[in-house]
Amino acid sequence: MSEKKIMVSGIKPSGKITLGNYIGALKNWVDNQDEFENYYFIADLHSVTVRQEPAKLRKQTLDSLALYLACGLDPEKNIIFIQSHVTAHPELSWVLSNMTYMGELNRMTQFKDKSKKNEENLNAGLFTYPVLMAADILLYQADYVPVGEDQKQHLELTRDLASRFNNRYSDTFKVPEPYIPKAGARIMSLQEPTSKMGKSDDNENGVIYITDTPEEIRRKFKRAVTDSVGIVQYNDEQPGIKNLLTIYSVLTKRPIEDIVKDYEGKGYGDFKTDVGEVVIEALNPIREKYEALISDKKYLQSIYQSGAEKAEKIARKTLRKVYKKSGFVPRF
Ligand code: TYM
Repeated sequence: MSEKKIMVSGIKPSGKITLGNYIGALKNWVDNQDEFENYYFIADLHSVTVRQEPAKLRKQTLDSLALYLACGLDPEKNIIFIQSHVTAHPELSWVLSNMTYMGELNRMTQFKDKSKKNEENLNAGLFTYPVLMAADILLYQADYVPVGEDQKQHLELTRDLASRFNNRYSDTFKVPEPYIPKAGARIMSLQEPTSKMGKSDDNENGVIYITDTPEEIRRKFKRAVTDSVGIVQYNDEQPGIKNLLTIYSVLTKRPIEDIVKDYEGKGYGDFKTDVGEVVIEALNPIREKYEALISDKKYLQSIYQSGAEKAEKIARKTLRKVYKKSGFVPRF
């Protein structure tokens, strides 16, 4: 048995993976892969809470897998799978949904935001979304869940559900902790620096996708919204510059103060160009690896098949305990 602590996380294939996803989550998965026992999946079941075009969803799911690998996740060190391949996830979600209160789900800020954007498709899945997320995590007895800031509230619910089940029956689930990066947990749109950079933002100029070409990245950073202060410094009154400084600092591992010093007496033009170049340097090798991987469907298939097989074993073990404690008669 491995003594390593367990990490679990996922990304929805509801669009192309962004620089926000990379800095807030994926990069930390890669940086920590040696230290933990890791389960990373593509959250396709979560993505259909918003209407998806089937062919596009299929493509985006495989793209996400190729990108996980291209970012440096090693299939020898991580169990990588597609969420819908391990049916224990929706099964546990059902059990947990019977101990989740409507009031708890009503309070979720992501639900409130999404329901405003999806008034014409305010479906039950969007409401129970965090319960499935709790199941994703609890099935693997996760210690840590590496995510961006926006998932913190869902993690709190996950912890509450784990404790509630443990108290009602007996110790079954580990109570997980969020693992949120100190810097970069909330990367903002380049066009609207007071809103989060998101996969399905209407204004694509504000979003950097990991697969963007150098030309696209250069163009988007040139157009990045700044302010009229004219000084490169890190403060809340200058959200655009603050966001660019965060991106620069996380990707180069240089302290913000040092970067600020470099730009004393210089205008925003140089700074924006340089941030663009830093991002190109970080993303270009990933895009090149992605392009090679995405054409090798057989290889990708072998990864997700063996990943699901391994994940299934662990997940079933937890689910069996849950069913037994709930009073369901075992089939075997
Ligand atoms: P999703 O697909 O919206 O985002 C994937 C991950 O990226 C982080 N993230 C960001 N971090 C920094 N800045 C941003 N602008 C930014 N945008 C997104 C998110 O916090 C997340 O970590 N519900 C999850 C997927 C999920 C999941 C899970 C995660 C399903 N089951 C179980 C952890 C554990 C989601 O919608 O992520």
